[in-house]
Amino acid sequence: MPVRFTLNGTPMQVEARPDESLLEVLRERCGITSLKDGCSPQGQCGGCLALIDGDPKVTCATKASAVEGRTVLTLEGVSVEERALIAGAFAAANGLQCGFCIPGIALRAKHLTDRHADPSRAEIARAIDGHLCRCTGYVKIIDAIRLLAAAKRGEPLPEPCEDGRVGRSLARVDAARTALGERRYVADVRRPGMLHGALVLSPHARARVVRIDTGRARAFPGVRAVATAGNVPGNRWYGLLYDDWPGLVAEGEEVRCAGDVLAAVAADDRHTAREAARLIDVVYEPLPPVLDPAEALRPGAPRVNPRHENLLSRTVIRRGDAAAALAASAHVVSGTWTTQRIEHAFLEPESAFAEPLPDGRLHLLTQGQGIFDDRRQVAAFLGVPREQVFAELAPNGGAFGGKEDLSVQAHAALLARMTGRPVLLTLSREESVRLHPKRHPMTLHYTAGCDAEGRLTAVRARILGDSGAYASVGGKVLERAAGHACGPYRVPSVDVEAVAAYTNNPPCGAMRGFGTNQAHFAMEGCVDLLAAKAGLDPWEMRWRNALEVGDTFCTGQVLEKSVGIKRTLAAVKDAYYAARREGRAVGIGCGIKNSGIGNGVEEWGRARLVVERDGTVTLFNGYTEMGQGLLTVLVQFAVEVTGLPAATFVPRVDSTYELDCGQTTGSRATLFGGRAVVEAARKLRAELDAGRTLAELAGRVYEADLVTRDTTAVGADVPRIKTHTAFGFATQVVILDGGGRVARVIAAHDVGRAVNPAQCEGQIEGGVHMGLGYALTEELPCPGGIPATHKLRELGVLRARDMPEVEVILVEEPEPEGPLGAKGVGEIGLVPTAAAVASALEAFDGVRRYRLPMRDSAAARSMSVGRRR
Ligand code: FES
Ligand code: FES
Repeated sequence: MPVRFTLNGTPMQVEARPDESLLEVLRERCGITSLKDGCSPQGQCGGCLALIDGDPKVTCATKASAVEGRTVLTLEGVSVEERALIAGAFAAANGLQCGFCIPGIALRAKHLTDRHADPSRAEIARAIDGHLCRCTGYVKIIDAIRLLAAAKRGEPLPEPCEDGRVGRSLARVDAARTALGERRYVADVRRPGMLHGALVLSPHARARVVRIDTGRARAFPGVRAVATAGNVPGNRWYGLLYDDWPGLVAEGEEVRCAGDVLAAVAADDRHTAREAARLIDVVYEPLPPVLDPAEALRPGAPRVNPRHENLLSRTVIRRGDAAAALAASAHVVSGTWTTQRIEHAFLEPESAFAEPLPDGRLHLLTQGQGIFDDRRQVAAFLGVPREQVFAELAPNGGAFGGKEDLSVQAHAALLARMTGRPVLLTLSREESVRLHPKRHPMTLHYTAGCDAEGRLTAVRARILGDSGAYASVGGKVLERAAGHACGPYRVPSVDVEAVAAYTNNPPCGAMRGFGTNQAHFAMEGCVDLLAAKAGLDPWEMRWRNALEVGDTFCTGQVLEKSVGIKRTLAAVKDAYYAARREGRAVGIGCGIKNSGIGNGVEEWGRARLVVERDGTVTLFNGYTEMGQGLLTVLVQFAVEVTGLPAATFVPRVDSTYELDCGQTTGSRATLFGGRAVVEAARKLRAELDAGRTLAELAGRVYEADLVTRDTTAVGADVPRIKTHTAFGFATQVVILDGGGRVARVIAAHDVGRAVNPAQCEGQIEGGVHMGLGYALTEELPCPGGIPATHKLRELGVLRARDMPEVEVILVEEPEPEGPLGAKGVGEIGLVPTAAAVASALEAFDGVRRYRLPMRDSAAARSMSVGRRR
């Protein structure tokens, strides 16, 4: 049916299906890319916001036919002057991270500030209630909107920082284009002749696949290829640590979780591909799923994965005689803490683009957290040498660990190979929730003791994690939980075991803080319980036990440098005691988080600085920018060393050079990637110091390939244990108001060196936001192994008006092994948060909570999100 409307001032007439959304029409047929599809047709993220006759509407939940005769405004149609103000405000305030949510919020901000000249922070938070941001904690988004309002009142807009030296808050690379929706995420890519892919996912947690009948789909008009397991020319099974995950499940095999892929379709457009996928008939023989990790480990339990026994991993750490130390302790506490499965809820669903190149190679545009791992696995899937795949990082709309495993890259590549045409494959929100690994639910049995003065004597911990159907990095997550089982404290005797088990639940893998968050919830609970027994307040108890240089970490590593936990405790001391004196319910939590995977893993930092003929320097590195600000920080290292302006450096992540560093994980990209950039930049600097100009150096490539091999495996029997290159430390204080609502969070973090203070703050604000959700509202129940919901709003992610005031205190305890003193900050933002909230809740109502999320609390009930209330 024809629909006539005015788009950004231009009359349009488009053909639309009766059920077609306005979002689909605008993105697919009108070339609008500022509208982002984070959840269509749910209407729950706000990414697709447009102004229809001046009113803000989510276009994924608006039929195209509804705009007949009306006007539609997107950011593309906003005046040049106002676009400049919007871009400038978000860049100056550092009001964006991955940026996927920002164009929608920016248009909302325009609407708000057109009507309200000076909105307060609370009014802005209410105005953006229809938008979700998973990265920022909304703090700097609200700052940006305040700046925009001021600018529209005629006040001068602060210039975005262009000073790229270390310690300055250089504006994020590409900030302006990101804010305006001009930066192209994978799903925004268009090519002549491009096909769209769609997948068929299992509806069962466990079933035998009797038959896959693709006949009706193949005959469907517009379908160009249908792929099943038999079409995979190479290794159909992939995985980061074990090849235990089939990209396509074959007839006769079992599906092992509700996100398993049975078939893939390529068609002329996305709608046709999805219609055709629905025509694929799969006959299943349902089997009883294994859903309890403890049951999975019992003798005789059905084997979940044919490539590995149900026991995925067991990590053991023993130092001293914990049993004897506990028996001799003045005070002993025990308890069982349980943590929930949660969804990453990155705003950009998984998407991959694959295109055959004229030279026979395949161009893979991926938003994965390790493009070289993506390339390796996709090449193996296709049965070609990896050099046949040119991998390139697309802008990544959030990941948080959820984009480490392959998702749709292999399927897009296979369809491109089968058709000889470019293929774009983008998941819906529902498919995204079903397909990618989650945060591990864990059960943690703890016993801890201290002496009469409150000094910790021993910790005994037994931890069981549900890794779901595939290994992903589940063994590493439980290894991390074991290694961090004692928190940032000096514990002389340690007896820890952590086990990961396969089940038919959705896979669990990496998620921000992986394993440490769960362990800290339990250990910090023990510290609070022991403090009460020893007659100490929680701050004093932590101060007496906090690690210092020369102390031994849980794994046996003697800490030799950059141990800032006591400085973070000192930084919050006055505010903590002031709140107590005021009679406020106040809680405290401390945290430690490895920077670098460590545990004996070889780790790389690789960089190339390539001097171009136009006077710029392309900065290649092997790690992924996913909103954390890595590329901006790497530019700052290059600026600091070379003395060249920030605008000289153009960061790029692709496989032009062999820069494989593995996954962007474990808070390590700044640490190792930064070291490589510093090294390469020193070589360039030496040439500049010798009097050469950039013009003279055009074409030169400055290389750095730095390997770190000095860490030791957990439990290794070696004279000098060094499980990790570096650690971040934090103390957070949570203060409730009189009604039990979280009113304020003070987050003091030892970041080594704040390379970009505004970005550092942003990471911590976003971490606190995620940590509060983890503590109070977030959960993804999976009854029968099937996610109970696919709706973004039902995942419990906090909205802007749920966020308390967050005060970030940056403590700099330089890390000698880090680049110019820096260490990773990406994960630790939420490591202490749940424990600090639990501590505050107990101060409020006297109830010590052992289970996340703590929905029974007044703090949770005061949140606007969260179902089951
Ligand atoms: S895509 Fe429309 S609200 Fe999320
Ligand atoms: S910046 Fe908001 S979702 Fe990433």
